[in-house]
Amino acid sequence: MKTALITGVTGQDGSFLAELLLEKGYDVHGTIRRSSVDFRERIAHLEGKPNFHLHYADLGDSMSIIQVLNKVKPDEVYNLAAQSHVQVSFDSPEFTADVDATGVLRLLEGIRQCGLADKCRFYQASTSELYGKVEEVPQNEDTPFHPYSPYAVAKLYGFWIVKEYREAYNMYACSGILFNHESERRGETFVTRKITLAAARIAQGKQEKLYLGNLSSLRDWGYAKDYVECMWQILQQEKPEDFVIASGEQHSVRDFCLLAFRRAGIELEFKGEGIDEKGIDKNTGRILIEVSKDFYRPTDVVNLWGDPSKAKRQLGWNPNEKTSFEQLVNIMVDADMAKVAVERAGEQVRTNLEEYLEKGIVK
Ligand code: NAP
Ligand code: GDD
Repeated sequence: MKTALITGVTGQDGSFLAELLLEKGYDVHGTIRRSSVDFRERIAHLEGKPNFHLHYADLGDSMSIIQVLNKVKPDEVYNLAAQSHVQVSFDSPEFTADVDATGVLRLLEGIRQCGLADKCRFYQASTSELYGKVEEVPQNEDTPFHPYSPYAVAKLYGFWIVKEYREAYNMYACSGILFNHESERRGETFVTRKITLAAARIAQGKQEKLYLGNLSSLRDWGYAKDYVECMWQILQQEKPEDFVIASGEQHSVRDFCLLAFRRAGIELEFKGEGIDEKGIDKNTGRILIEVSKDFYRPTDVVNLWGDPSKAKRQLGWNPNEKTSFEQLVNIMVDADMAKVAVERAGEQVRTNLEEYLEKGIVK
């Protein structure tokens, strides 16, 4: 039985990867951080399984990393932990650098210090944000990097330190340069999830309006569950190499809104430009989406489009056989429609109960 260690197991990708590795018969260990509210929603269904284990560790704390590496002695390490929000990296640049740049070094050096460099394979969650202010469209493994946020600059260090440890110490260490991937488990402040949750709430009368930033920003979006398969595949190759993983399609934030609201039963049309652009309900004329400067970034990456030819060729991973853009939007909206419906039902039960208590019908 192989042993895997996943940092960031409580995150979107970590939870899907843990499921995949458990299915493949791995002994799966994940790192979690101490917090005053225990947020383990994404992995709650895995806790208690005999081959699933959790350990406290923080990428900012070498001692916790060494301790967990020594205890688990993993065959494969998947470093998914990160301060992963680009906009937040402008507010917390130092923390982002510590976790997303130096944190990668701490793990790699920890593997060496624990004498695991020959045995342990290492996957680094790298990102299309490295292409940033893009110098070529679409982007592949040879496209020059031009990071355009504190997050991307930190991740660029992570990318290069992985390459350095591969070359200097002959470690099996690789980066997956993943384009945006989303799911029903996506954090609620990333644009796709923000849109699907708002569409569900607006459709069910729980929210008036959605405020967004740059509607023209272009992304190459895929489904996270499909993308974690590649992380595993990248570590099963004969030689360690880096791969671009992408859908090979590009859509705007505006396109995402149109499809998401349609799935929630609302036909939208956009009118106006820039900060004055509005998303309007075609049937009622109500303004449902407005643009707010608050969601603009000091520097924004606006033209991501991946070329996954190498992954197709070498890994046999073909995005055309995976979840399509429209299917992705539908999965996310359907999940949020159900979530909002359950919340509403809960509220109704509470209201009824209060009324019955007041009237003395129940005591
Ligand atoms: P996510 O949902 O934000 O999950 C991030 C994980 O990192 C969480 O488990 C979080 O723990 C953990 N973490 C944060 N700071 C940490 C620290 N100091 N020490 C230990 N753990 C820490 O992100 P994701 O979407 O799953 O992405 C996974 C990785 O892929 C990230 O490295 C991200 O930068 C990268 N990536 C993502 C995409 C994408 O589109 N999703 C694309 C390219 C690359 P808490 O739960 O305690 O916060
Ligand atoms: N979050 C957010 N909120 N983004 C908005 C909004 C809004 O209200 N309005 C427009 N956008 C635009 C952003 O300006 C950006 O151009 C685009 O939507 C996508 O933003 P996010 O969903 O926050 O994702 P991201 O592309 O910045 O970063 C994600 O993908 C990277 C891979 O390219 C994260 O998962 C990163 O961790 C990952 O590396």
